[in-house]
Amino acid sequence: MPTKDLDLLLREGALQPPKGFFERRPPNSKPFLKNFDEYLKLYKQSIDDPEKFFSQMAIENLSWSKKFDYGRLPTNEKIFNKETCDAAAWFVGGELNACYNCVDRHALLNPNKPAIIYEADEPNEGYILTFGELLKKICQVSQILKQLGVKKGDTVAVYLPMIPEAIITLMAIVRIGAIHSVIFAGFSSASLRDRIIDANSKIVITSDESKRGGKIIETKKIVDEALKQCPAVTNVLVFKRTGNSHIPWTKGRDLWWHEEINKYIPYIPPTAVSSEDPLFLLYTSGSTGKPKGVQHNTAGYLLGALLTTKYVFDVHPDDILFTAGDVGWITGHSYVVYGPLLNGATTVVFEGTPAYPNYSRYWEIVDKYKVTQFYVAPTALRLLKRAGSKYVENYDLSSLRTLGSVGEPIAPEVWEWYNEFVGRNNAHICDTYWQTETGSHIIAPLAGITPTKAGSASFPFFGIDPVIVDPVSGEELIGNDVEGVLCVRNPWPSMARSIWNDYNRFLDTYLKPFRGYYFTGDGAARDKDGFYWILGRVDDVVNVSGHRLSTAEIESALIEHHLVAESAVVGFPDELTGSAVAAFVALKDKSLYSDDDNANDIKKQLIVTVRKEIGPFAAPKMILLVNDLPKTRSGKIMRRIMRKILAGEEDQLGDVSTLSNPDVVQHLIDVVKSN
Ligand code: WT7
Repeated sequence: MPTKDLDLLLREGALQPPKGFFERRPPNSKPFLKNFDEYLKLYKQSIDDPEKFFSQMAIENLSWSKKFDYGRLPTNEKIFNKETCDAAAWFVGGELNACYNCVDRHALLNPNKPAIIYEADEPNEGYILTFGELLKKICQVSQILKQLGVKKGDTVAVYLPMIPEAIITLMAIVRIGAIHSVIFAGFSSASLRDRIIDANSKIVITSDESKRGGKIIETKKIVDEALKQCPAVTNVLVFKRTGNSHIPWTKGRDLWWHEEINKYIPYIPPTAVSSEDPLFLLYTSGSTGKPKGVQHNTAGYLLGALLTTKYVFDVHPDDILFTAGDVGWITGHSYVVYGPLLNGATTVVFEGTPAYPNYSRYWEIVDKYKVTQFYVAPTALRLLKRAGSKYVENYDLSSLRTLGSVGEPIAPEVWEWYNEFVGRNNAHICDTYWQTETGSHIIAPLAGITPTKAGSASFPFFGIDPVIVDPVSGEELIGNDVEGVLCVRNPWPSMARSIWNDYNRFLDTYLKPFRGYYFTGDGAARDKDGFYWILGRVDDVVNVSGHRLSTAEIESALIEHHLVAESAVVGFPDELTGSAVAAFVALKDKSLYSDDDNANDIKKQLIVTVRKEIGPFAAPKMILLVNDLPKTRSGKIMRRIMRKILAGEEDQLGDVSTLSNPDVVQHLIDVVKSN
């Protein structure tokens, strides 16, 4: 619990929220909180009596078709139970509809208000969609889905670029009580196939092609490739994005969005679901090869997305939020789609990249639409910082109040650049720490309220009681100035409820490693003032440009290549992408290494293999062909040794004599040096 008062923190060097922050919010809107003391007071209430705190929030902020009986089940405990490890169920007995909360209630009040600002890949090709228009399209797509046999509780696979139809699709799915399973459109057909099969989706929604950074991506072709091995899929609904006529088409199975949509009336009522009915699945990487379908349930997730958007970013209904993330990741779910719409605000859907047609693209969008909150991953900021401040200087960015950062630690010099060149020292930088599994921010400053230190995500959000645990003893480290692994003591509304079809794996991954706590997988420190600093993953997950990759998943991709005997994948620091992937690969036939041309050709093939098995974003930056991998006597690969060698820390390898093949160490050092 943060204990210090604001004056003390400021005296000790934390940065004050920008002056005049609240005066710059939209006219006729009141600040949500007065000051940092009020945050401390509410935070304490949320920890002391989470049921009361969140029940009140849920009643005030969400619209219910049937009020809940309990904030949480009477049997649920306030903190995770060491024996059962079960998490809480929230707002039990209540019924609601996610789409109604995101769209209908705002459309009823203000049908002409912009809900979506679509900024297409080519500047000036976008348009604005009002809440009224959005509702109409959602209702029509809901009817298409119903017609195709989609029922409450069914999953629908979504493989779409960043276009308004992505939001329309998600809302149309949840409007009829079905569950969306978005697969990031950068995933390969093999990954798409695995996720469609795991979720047992029978309908896929996609586009003919996609446009990104001036390039065309053959989206439908990738889907068709995946569907060769998905016999359960009955229909594919295809949005015409580019209109190129040569896309593959299966008669009877494939349907054009624009032909179907006009068959239906502009309104159907939403289907109420129970609070704990699943809302969506989102696959993410863990320490083992198989991706996990992280399952979020309805009411708790909605409340988390709503409250964090409201309090962390200070989003009022007249604000315009631009989250430069993809709907294929949790950032897109919570802060492009759900968070802004639940608050009745306007959300920017950006199809392109920060570098196309030039490095000014984000700032041009901010200036053009007078964006009030901008949210992006540090990897994009590093790129833009490197491109030079001339790309940002000539734009009017004075509408910006909140600048969010997400996905990886933001280095102080990048933080300063963001603050000075984008925020013009007048916006609040909010470094938000959270995960796919947490649903919404769990450690983050509240804009306008919380003092900040560059590089720290600051303090916990309401209802989150973070714990730093000693990784060896599993004991909680009490007090400030401690470092260990980051856990959470208590269940909160938007935490994931399960891994699809595998509750035991959910317990094993998150609730059993440190019994009595939710385990994040990240290392963290709490400094002398109680600020939290995220130190990065402690498991075999690598964060490349804010994309979460499992080293085990890349290893299983590499082994698909017929020449590969075994491989070990590790992350190493990279200036632009944060981490990059290096693959140490031992081939079955070592004689293939001798010839440089041959070796280079094999490396290229291996990269193609990973692109094909997972997706282009997972391709290793470096492939090292080696004779052998360092192993313990029981055969366990020692990835730590390879990480150290890549970091140039050969002198810190520790005792390698216990390896079954100690000579391999010098060999690895030589290969890395000559690479
Ligand atoms: C992992 C979660 C959360 C949306 C995007 C990524 C890392 C996330 C921060 C931050 C340092 C961060 C963690 C976390 N991470 N935010 N502000 N500072 N690290 O979601 O793919 O589920 O990845 O991203 O390592 O565990 P995700």
